[in-house]
Amino acid sequence: STVTIPPPACMLRPLEAPLRYLFGPGPSNVPPRILAAGAKPIIGHMHSEMFEVMDDIKEGIRYAFQTQNNMTISMSGSGHAAMECAVFNTVEPGESVLVAINGIWGERVAEIAERSGAKVHRLVKAPGGYFSNKEIEQAMQKHKPVLFFLTHGESSAGLCHLVDGIGDICRKHNCLFLVDTVASLGAAPIFMDKQNIDILYTGSQKALNAPPGTAPISFNDRACHKMFNRKTKPLSYLFDMTYLSNYWGCDGKPARIYHHTGPVSGFFALRESLAILAEKGLEESWRKHKEIAAYLYKGLEDMVCDARSPQDLRLPSVTTIAIPDGYDWREMLAYIMKHHQMEMTGGLGPSVGMVMRVGLMGYNCEKFNADKALHALQDALKNCKKSKA
Ligand code: GLV
Repeated sequence: STVTIPPPACMLRPLEAPLRYLFGPGPSNVPPRILAAGAKPIIGHMHSEMFEVMDDIKEGIRYAFQTQNNMTISMSGSGHAAMECAVFNTVEPGESVLVAINGIWGERVAEIAERSGAKVHRLVKAPGGYFSNKEIEQAMQKHKPVLFFLTHGESSAGLCHLVDGIGDICRKHNCLFLVDTVASLGAAPIFMDKQNIDILYTGSQKALNAPPGTAPISFNDRACHKMFNRKTKPLSYLFDMTYLSNYWGCDGKPARIYHHTGPVSGFFALRESLAILAEKGLEESWRKHKEIAAYLYKGLEDMVCDARSPQDLRLPSVTTIAIPDGYDWREMLAYIMKHHQMEMTGGLGPSVGMVMRVGLMGYNCEKFNADKALHALQDALKNCKKSKA
């Protein structure tokens, strides 16, 4: 009964979390009101007040997604949890899945679907590429998928994909349309019901400005029909929508039964972030992101830095910048962090080594922050060494 492992020295030091400008692709800075919501006293995850908070969250998500779907919840987990939930619940082993890949997120979904035993068909473009509805329909005719995945806000490429018409094509081919809006929700228009999107998800930590760790997701009746009439159980117990729909009061049963312990503080913070979006209004949030992104592009042009994303499909939340000729992007990012306490990032997945990324999302989406980012970049261009080549 003697303790042989002493308390670790690190545990006897205070926690350090420096204040930083989070101008990368997320998490973004969390405004004081949301931080305060997350610091409220914990209540039980099954208390009636908690269910009320969860009901508020559902309403907030319905507004943010522009949907009336009953099956609207938040995952206890990051955007990846929602991604896995969508795939695990709607796809059974052996079924065909079509994935549009023009950056990292399609790659992830393809792997998740493969792990679920699906036959995965990849529709691939280089980062920054995009797909015509005709290409999508041709691939659908060929592969007859039960699910088609598209990233709305491809944060690794700085591209916001068009969505109109794709939901109709999916219906015609008896396929579910799954859309990832982790990096775009609140920053660029999306209309789940009007655009016939069957499953939509996002993350808490981007334009919503909540801490990472919760992820809104919604399923329409077509998606519910498929996922609640499956022959096999979904791979994951934690992400099984039969249980989650009960936990979130979406299954019409009178009692909610214990499934897992939701992140109470995370849900408080998410509720507050959705409240801020509702107060501000979606249109204003979209307008602001577009305005500040345009201001940032103009500033980059003036510095002779190229924004990489195709002009008419630029993602207003995350801007990709071509790595300036002769510079080492890692050195520039380290310089900016050290001298400006500012996070910008490199590329991600297939865009690594091609771009640097600046994100100005939600609370951070202000002209003075764009100026700070531009100033930091300019300073790095002046002070980082330029190779001779
Ligand atoms: C993460 O979400 C990223 O885009 O880097």
